[in-house]
Formats: sequence, C-alpha cells, structure tokens
Amino acid sequence: MKVQSIRGTHDILPGSVELWQEIERTARDLFGLYGYAEIRTPVLEETELFARSIGIETDIVRKEMYTIEDSKGKSITLRPEGTAPVVRSYIENGVSSEVPVAKLYYIGPMFRHERPQKGRYRQFHQIGAEVLGSDNPAIEAEVIEMLFRLLQALGLQDFTLLINSVGCPVCRPAYVDRLREELRTRAGELCEECRRRTETNPLRVLDCKVPTCQPAIDQLPAIADWLCPECREHFSLFQKYLKSQEIPATTAPRLVRGLDYYVRTTFEIVSGRLGPTQNALVGGGRYDGLSELIGGPPAKGFGFAMGMERLVLLLSGRADLGAPYKPPAPEIFLVHLDQPAFEHNLGLASELRKAGIFAYVDFEGKSIKSQMRQANRLNARFTCVVGESELQTGQMTLKRMADGSQTTLKRIEIAEYLRKEK
Ligand code: HAM
Repeated sequence: MKVQSIRGTHDILPGSVELWQEIERTARDLFGLYGYAEIRTPVLEETELFARSIGIETDIVRKEMYTIEDSKGKSITLRPEGTAPVVRSYIENGVSSEVPVAKLYYIGPMFRHERPQKGRYRQFHQIGAEVLGSDNPAIEAEVIEMLFRLLQALGLQDFTLLINSVGCPVCRPAYVDRLREELRTRAGELCEECRRRTETNPLRVLDCKVPTCQPAIDQLPAIADWLCPECREHFSLFQKYLKSQEIPATTAPRLVRGLDYYVRTTFEIVSGRLGPTQNALVGGGRYDGLSELIGGPPAKGFGFAMGMERLVLLLSGRADLGAPYKPPAPEIFLVHLDQPAFEHNLGLASELRKAGIFAYVDFEGKSIKSQMRQANRLNARFTCVVGESELQTGQMTLKRMADGSQTTLKRIEIAEYLRKEK
C-alpha cells in the first residue's frame, strides 16, 4: 500500500511556497508598523482551553476537534484556532503587567475535522493578530485598516467587509430568549440541526447555511434592535472610525460567527470568488471576557484570523492548492568536463554563493549534454562550461541561456558580472 497524505491536508511545494513566503513577509513587515510582535504558541493545548472559550455547543468543539488522550489520560487537542492559545499565553506569561496594551500576531497551522472541499481543509493556516488590553472601538478600526492595507499590498481588490455587533452579557440574554421563542414557533420550517440549536444555542441558527432554513431565518429579529445603550454607542463609534479611515463596511445583522467568545463587534471579510458557502477570507471580533472563561483576570481583546489557503486561492487564481513542483532557477549552472573541473567548480560555486549568487553544480557525474539539459530544465540564467583549457587559461565563458550570447571573463570577474546582471 502506498502511504499518502491525510485527506484535507496538503503539501506546499517549491513553485507555490514562494507566494506563501511573500504573504508572510508582507504581513510581518506591515504588522510591525502597527506595533505587533510575533507570538508562537504550541500546536497542542489542553482540550479544556477550547471547550471553555470557543464554547461546547459550537460546531468546532462538538464535531471538529482533533482530540487525543495522552499517556496520563489528559485530554489534549490540536489547536483549531489561535485566539484562545494567545490569550492563554498572555495570562500565563503575565504580559498584562509588562504592557497596558499587547499587540501580538501569529502565523501557523490550525486543525479542524471538517468535510474537505475547495477552501476548506483539515489542516489549514491562519495569519492572525490579537490586541489585548483595550476596549476602544478605535483600535478595532485600526486593526481593520491594517488588514485592508495587507490585502491591498498583496494586490487583492474584490473583497467586502461585513460588520455587526453581537451585544454583551447585559443585552444579549434578552435577545437570545426572544430569538428562542421565535424559533420555537417556526420549528416546522427549520432543519433538525437548527431545531436542536433552538434549545442549546439559538444564535448559531443565524449562520445556518441550509437553503430551506433561510426564509425563516430572514424573518428573525435582528440583534441590532436589542443592543444596550453602551453596545449601541460602541458600534456607532466603531463605524465612525471606519468611516474616517475611508473603509467601506456593510452591516450584516446575521453575522454572529461560529465561536461563542465574541461580544460586541464581529466582522468578516468575504469574497464572492471563494464560492457561496466558504466565502470568508477573514473572521474576527471582540472577545472581552474570554480571559475570565479560562481562569485569567479580566482582559479586553479584539482580533482576527485570515485563512492563508483561501488567500492563496484568491491571489493565484488557481482552483486548487496543488501547484506542480517547480525548483528555483540558478543564476549560473557550472558545467564540468572532468574531475579536476568538477573540483574547481565546487570552489567557484562556494565563492559565488558568498557573493550572494545562486550557483549550481551537478553532482551526478553526468555528461556535458545531460548537464546542459539539466541547466535548461532548471531554467538557469547562465551556464559556464569548465574543462582543461579553462583551468589552464583562467578564462571562463558565460553563456546567457535566453539568447545564447557569450561573454568571456576571468574567474575573479564572474561574481561582479553576475551581480550587475541580476
Ligand atoms: P474563524 O472564522 O473560525 O475565526 O477562522 C478565520 C478564518 O480561517 C476563516 O475566515 C477562514 O479563512 C479560515 N478557515 C477557518 N476554517 C478553515 C478551514 N477548515 N479550511 C481553510 N480555512 C479555514 C477564528 O479562527 C478566530 N480565532 C478569529 C479571531 C481572531 N477572532 C478574534 N481573533
């Protein structure tokens, strides 16, 4: 039996990885300008962390976590998201006593046992940022401005920002009660899952994607009408700050998000090109209270996570992530005719690399013809054939592969010549 990769996971090969690196580089540079520092938390956490923060009635915790028992019987889980681990680390490392407002970002793999399809995987990657210690709506607008700048810097244009407020523990319970009452009267129009959620977590009904539920969902009361004065004020200030940054936003009264820790502001950035159901590129919001849920001191928090696979799909325009393997192209491929030339080329390649030039030497002891073929396959910019006469005269001829033109140089001049040619 041939061993293969696990369903819902994928390899990122040379040829594709360069785009991932560019995204990461652009994000790191930009986030730095806003004061964010990178945090790397473990991929494994106690299951309890996610159960308490994301919520035991969410799809993620009920059905999608990769959970195992370790040898001591402790339940541990491959992280399905990055916010709870960051907050756990923030508490555990006493970050709040170091700085009043901590700005942290992360890039890494997350794991959810979902049914794989385009844009939905079991191992996927997120770039996320969290700001802890502030409940100012202006910081929410700043985070979104940073996101817009990132997407624009990467050349993405067709995306939409959806915003909503999901209230707080003061105003939400009354809305949830009202929602439940309404859902009970409409039970006959709802799918089985929504009927179950009516009792366990009625807010989740709002993001049900089953087409037959939509007419009933459209008739449900909107949370915006139930917000307390403080939440209303917070949301209107958030909108004001977005406006002053000239960030267009669409209010989406049913945007409640699939994680229970949110209060007040929630948002998504969606793109029609991702398809009708998996259209969210970015999800985020405020989560004051999450810290307390996991045993920490009160802490305010706001952040987002962007799905890297979805971003790559949008930027590459490819329908899948399986771009074919493509090795990097050498600046110069050093061809040898015999063993002394091979040994010479090893030294020359080493010198060129010290000068910052990607030089390639063939190790397979193949004929000159097969070395030239390999240079072509690798798309080398220059080749240089070295044999007895080159070793004697110290003169080497560089051939530009694009047009076949040749330049003869002393060995010592090669690095400078290639540097200018770059
Ligand atoms: P989320 O909406 O669950 O939020 O995920 C954020 C993004 O991760 C999604 O918009 C999507 O692009 C990507 N994503 C999620 N699941 C998958 C999957 N199975 N395959 C591919 N991509 C996926 C969170 O994770 C929150 N922690 C965001 C946050 C940060 N809220 C506050 N701070």
